[in-house]
Amino acid sequence: MVLVMFDSCVSRVWQFNAVWSQKALCLHAQNPIPAWQGHHLCEKPLFHAIIDPGVVTNEEQETKNRMQPSKLQPPTTWRTMALPKDGGQKHESNFAIWDNHMNASARSPLAKPFVKWAGGKSQILDKIRAKYPAGLGNGINKYAEPFVGGGAVLFDVLNLYPLDKVYISDINRELVHAYITIRENVGGLVRALTDFQQEYLSAGAEKRKSIYYEKRERFNALKLAQDCSLELAALFIFLNKTCFNGLYRVNAKGGYNVPQGKYHNPCVCDEENLRMVSSKLQKVTIVHGDYKSSQAFIDDKTFAYFDPPYRPLSVTASFTSYAQDGFDDTAQSELAGFIDEMSERGAFVLASNSDPKNTDETDDFFDRLYAKHDISRIDALRAINSVGNGRGRIRELLIASG
Ligand SMILES: C[S@@+](CC[C@H](N)C(=O)[O-])C[C@H]1O[C@@H](n2cnc3c(N)ncnc32)[C@H](O)[C@@H]1O
Repeated sequence: MVLVMFDSCVSRVWQFNAVWSQKALCLHAQNPIPAWQGHHLCEKPLFHAIIDPGVVTNEEQETKNRMQPSKLQPPTTWRTMALPKDGGQKHESNFAIWDNHMNASARSPLAKPFVKWAGGKSQILDKIRAKYPAGLGNGINKYAEPFVGGGAVLFDVLNLYPLDKVYISDINRELVHAYITIRENVGGLVRALTDFQQEYLSAGAEKRKSIYYEKRERFNALKLAQDCSLELAALFIFLNKTCFNGLYRVNAKGGYNVPQGKYHNPCVCDEENLRMVSSKLQKVTIVHGDYKSSQAFIDDKTFAYFDPPYRPLSVTASFTSYAQDGFDDTAQSELAGFIDEMSERGAFVLASNSDPKNTDETDDFFDRLYAKHDISRIDALRAINSVGNGRGRIRELLIASG
């Protein structure tokens, strides 16, 4: 089960998974919100609340037993002991998690990226979320993500806001084909992935290795033939789940060349999430191609998030081969021009990139490029394209249209 709490303009959201297994939660002041009728919301964290196992009544215990994470009927209240953060007086109360007026989609489990993706934004989502425009879902009713990748922000937005139109694109044809297949034929995809999972997990180490490389070869043959089958989408997801670090890297001829990963028990088929993703994608326009195609979609009612391949911090840290085309400084400058154009049109634009100042304090490439906009520097943990040994906590840029 997921507990979701918002501030009054839904610009900040807190989520908690499996609340019954947690000892402590942050609770927040309650405020009403028009977009999510009857739902309890939060201004800022006020308490640490501790679920007190000592006061669970029979009735509550029964509710708790019924409320497995996969079931969608959480209780409206549970008993908490709330401790003010400043060490003040304790409050014991029944705290409402859900309200009976909440709509069905708000009760559903949340969709999340179905692939691991280089540059994925899951771990800095809260910082990005803090920059969503105040009118999202209430005046700003269109969303565009032209460099969608794994879609961490896309799914967050789809989970939280009622939107009229959503547009995503990516230059990676096989990734886009996987999105379309999930939208169009999730049942077939789940069956294919279940078979792949069984075959892989029931094999020993040597056999797994040959299965991986056979599937990689088959994927490349289909890719080269510009195939659009269910098999191509299933192979794409299988390779993402079993390859080294979820990487997607291609050689000069466009062949996917990532070696096998060392996961003991990879989850190749996360059926619940694939079905949730499929339901969220039903009304989404999914485009294979360059980010510039989004220009016909973006208008003054659009929130557009641009997460291009990051500008490398150093030559050795360079990672821009999501597809055959790189994304050099000229491409970064062109994108900045496009972002200016979209923001002059009245769209609310947010963009991410690396901060060159991590390695060179004097490098103000992006400060100059985005001088008209609001630039924030945030901390992130990076696995690719980072400094030193290839992992570490570094600063990244969030650029919001000014
Ligand atoms: C940093 S990743 C996006 C990560 C994504 N935000 C996530 O959470 O997973 C950049 C993406 O841009 C795509 N891309 C690269 N050049 C592009 C272009 N010219 N137009 C559209 N997409 C492009 C890459 O294939 C890659 O998926």
